[in-house]
Order: sequence, then structure tokens, then C-alpha cells
Amino acid sequence: MSVIVVVGAQWGDEGKGKVVDLLAERAQVVVRFSGGDNAGHTVINPYGKFGLHLVPSGIFSAGATCIIGNGVVINPSKLIEELDELNKCGVSVDQLIISDRAHLIMPYHLLLDGLEEERRAGEAVGTTRRGIGPAFADKVARLGIRAGELLDKKVLRKRLHFIIDYKNIILSKVYEASLLSLDEVYTQYCHYGERLAPYIKETTVILAEALSRDQRILLEGAQGTLLDPDFGTYPYTTSSSPLAGGGCLGAGIGPTNIDSVMGVFKVYCTRVGNGPMPTELHDKTGNLIREQAHEYGTTTGRPRRCGWFDAPAARLSQRINGFTGLALTRLDVLDILPNLKICTAYKLDGKTIDNFPSSVAELERCQPVYEEMDGWQTSTTHIKKFDRLPPKAQQYITRLEELIACPVNLISVGSAREQTIEVRPVW
Ligand code: GDP
Ligand code: IMO
Ligand code: MG
Repeated sequence: MSVIVVVGAQWGDEGKGKVVDLLAERAQVVVRFSGGDNAGHTVINPYGKFGLHLVPSGIFSAGATCIIGNGVVINPSKLIEELDELNKCGVSVDQLIISDRAHLIMPYHLLLDGLEEERRAGEAVGTTRRGIGPAFADKVARLGIRAGELLDKKVLRKRLHFIIDYKNIILSKVYEASLLSLDEVYTQYCHYGERLAPYIKETTVILAEALSRDQRILLEGAQGTLLDPDFGTYPYTTSSSPLAGGGCLGAGIGPTNIDSVMGVFKVYCTRVGNGPMPTELHDKTGNLIREQAHEYGTTTGRPRRCGWFDAPAARLSQRINGFTGLALTRLDVLDILPNLKICTAYKLDGKTIDNFPSSVAELERCQPVYEEMDGWQTSTTHIKKFDRLPPKAQQYITRLEELIACPVNLISVGSAREQTIEVRPVW
């Protein structure tokens, strides 16, 4: 098993950072393949506690080359901040490589993300306002600027000239906002270019070389499957594909090179931002989970919406990712609850369905059908072996495994690296 894609299987924040940090100890290459600094991947290990937004969560593994793939959109100022922070904490970033094909977040992307959200008002997506949607839109519209262009100031100025003229028309005529100065943006991005130049490289050859040596490669997803622009709760989605398939595109390797796909699920559900979430709890239990688990966004600090595990959503996630193994996280959060529920189907307009509808309007009308189980009401945070878990916790895990139709590799019982039960070896 040399190439594993780690995928967020729900609405993001499943614990991908923790899982990648753990698996990276045995990897030679780790590639972040999608999203941008909308992601917030928490890693807690002997170096401290980190909320990574762009740098791959494998950066703490001295032996691993860490690549920010072509599928990521990079805000250079945020990346530089992150590198400085890691350096300050004694973490070497020498092994970081940035794909020269990765697109950059520009000042107008940040402005437009905010302006577009305000214009949507009641229909707002609830984005992280990091400029992600506008940057991916520009990539497809062939108006993007790529990391490689930072290395050639002449090219950078020429492209910026054309693009800023165009963006200024939109900013002033559509939104009556102030104009951006070409000189200021150019000077600022030249500084970023000077700082980031040592890291910017063509990355497909590096990955091909690693593959030819049969090295262990981890592809680190961002966001979650239900935020995918095709299969998620569109239009309440992000703008790049968090799916396993996105791993090939966003890293630059072929599908035949992927050996396994690890789906990371919380044992319940959370969502941050707007859009339907059929099992959302608006009651005391929802608040209890939020406070117990400190369910607040790593990137924006917004409270996460909390709810029961949603099997119809999980089955969609399994169908479109083809998971070969699971990491189930945050089992310990349920330790205090006397009763647990799992949504196994929905009631939609009087009919029972077990499918996750593609239409947001239908999803909003879906009522969860629950199966109830007793809680175990004892701490699991110190447990290292599956058969040492309370029997009711074992039953809960086994039920999720059955519903997702995929074997569990890892169970996480706390945020630290070592608070993990390895049920089946990953590699
Ligand atoms: P990511 O975006 O998928 O990497 O997830 P985030 O880092 O945004 O959010 C996951 C949160 O859960 C972080 O605060 C982690 O430290 C924490 N976490 C991960 N696994 C566990 C676990 O098993 N138990 C608890 N209590 N917290 C966990
Ligand atoms: P990680 O990698 C959770 C959500 C936003 C919003 C929607 C669109 O930490 O799991 P965007 O800024 O991408 O245009 O916002 O997507 N979102 C996330 N939610 N975890 C994330 O990343 C997210 N990245 C984006 O809240 O609903
Ligand atoms: Mg997160």
C-alpha cells in the first residue's frame, strides 16, 4: 500500500489533520491536493498544537517531503505566516515544495468573496471569506495567476496588468467598491515571490520519482465530501473537489497509482456555514456536543452545527469515494451521552428513502429516521485497543462500519496523536 488518499467524508473538520500527522510518521511524501486556507487542520503532537491551513499536516515528519499540490489555491501572505509560525516552534519547513501550477489568491479574490456573500444576503453560502470561490472561478475562467508566475516579474506584471484592469471594472461598476492599484499589488506579490521562490517547483516529476521508488505517499484532502461542488449540497459547497478523485487531479498522479482511500468520519456530524444538514440538533444535546468537543471552526472560529451520524450521507460518501478503510474520530465526545441516535434513512414527503437527495430543496424537507442505542457513559480517551472499549462503544463502531459498508482502520479517542486505536494496520 504505497499511495493513500485521506478524504474528509462529511462536511469537513472530521480530523484529517490528526490522521495525516499520524500516518505521515511512516510516509516519504505528503501532498495537500485541494482547497486553500479555508481549511484548518488541527495537529497536536510533541511539537505543540497547530492549526494548519496550507502546509501539509505531514510537515512534522522529518523524513517526509511535503507538497502543496497544483489543486490548492494559495494565499501567499497566509502561507508565509504559517511558515514563520512553524519555524518559531522549531519545525523545519525545508522539505516543503509548492507546485508551480498552484493558483494564487489575490487581493481581489478576498474582496469579491465578501462582496458576493453580502449580495447573496439571506442566500449566503457562509464561506470562510478567504477568497476561495473567486480564485477557483478565475482558474477555470483562465484569469488565474499561478505560483510559477511569481518567479518571473515581467510575466507577473503583464498578467496582473490585464487582470487588474478587468477586476477594477467589476469592483467599481458592479459593487461600487474602491479600485485596486496595479503597482501596489505587483510590489506586494514580488515580495511574496522572493520569499517563496526556493519552494516553488514542478512537482509531477518529484511524485513520479517517488512512485518509481515505491515510496509511501499520502494525499491529504481538505474540506469534506458533502462540500464537493458536484456531489455536495450545491450551492452550499466549496469550489474544489475534496473527493478521492480530486486527489489525482490536485496532486498530479494517475488513478491507477492510488492503492487505498481512507474516509475520515466523525462518529457524529458537524457542519460550519450554511446549507442543509438533516440530522442537525437544535437542542441541549447539540449544545452539549458543541461545548464538550469544542466544536468551533479552526479557520473562522464560528460555532459548528452539531448532529447525529447520518448514514444516508455516509453511503453517498462511500459510493463516490470508494473508501477502502475508515478513520472514525471523536468517539470520546460521545462518552458522556446516555443515549445515542444514528440516522439510517430519511422520511421525504411521506416516503422512507435511504438515499441522500441531490436537491437542496428535498434535503431541507428530509426528516431523519433514527435508530437508538444506549451510550456507554465511561471515558474512552485512554484506550488503545478495540476490545478494551466498553461493549456499547464497540457495538456503536460496528454499526457504523456496517452502515458505511467499509472496515475501520483507526478509531480516534482524543485529539493527541497517541489517542488512537489501530484496529487494522494502515501501512
Ligand atoms: P480537519 O479539518 O479534518 O483536520 O479537522 P479540524 O482540525 O478542523 O477539526 C477537528 C478537531 O477535532 C480538532 O480540534 C482536533 O484536535 C479534534 N480531534 C481530532 N480527533 C479527535 C478525537 O478523537 N477526539 C477529540 N475530542 N477531538 C479530536
Ligand atoms: P477543513 O479542511 C469545514 C465550508 C465553509 C462554507 C463552504 C464554502 O478544515 O475540513 P469556502 O470558503 O470554501 O468558499 O466556503 O465550505 N468550508 C469548510 N467547512 N471545514 C473546512 O475545511 C471547510 N472549508 C470550507 O464553511 O460552508
Ligand atoms: Mg478543519
